Amino acid sequence: MSIRELLERDHDQEHGKLVEASISMSRGEFEENSFMEFVSNIRRHIYIEEEIIFPDLVYLYSDMKGPISGLEMEHASLWMLIDRILEETASGTIRKSAKYLEEIERILAVHNALESANIYPKIKDERIPELERISIPEGWICRRLRRNRGQ
Ligand SMILES: [Fe+2]
Ligand SMILES: [Fe+2]
Repeated sequence: MSIRELLERDHDQEHGKLVEASISMSRGEFEENSFMEFVSNIRRHIYIEEEIIFPDLVYLYSDMKGPISGLEMEHASLWMLIDRILEETASGTIRKSAKYLEEIERILAVHNALESANIYPKIKDERIPELERISIPEGWICRRLRRNRGQ
């Protein structure tokens, strides 16, 4: 499988889990397992993009800096929305989580389409390590939030 196919498979899996979580949320019986699978998938995916894929593209193409910075802003928005849902579900109330889930779906639809059309086709597979074996380090957070928190 090419790197692009692997990343797009992540997008598809994330979408599936997110839809399951949203449907259950709208029925008032939140499928926490689906949501947690979505969360671990997308956090690892963002890690791979920000630490492996994007730096290589910026190295190869100087005009990629702008678009990638926009994508990293969106990662931060997604990351914060996920955190809010996790906080709410941990406290046993899911008052605003349905709205947050909708927001995540809305951002991801545009974000993933843009990556598929403009970013992934530029990846040079031979420069990227085996992704299947990569897992996100404990405590890693996305670049933009790390910068905001001064880490
Ligand atoms: Fe992304
Ligand atoms: Fe992606």
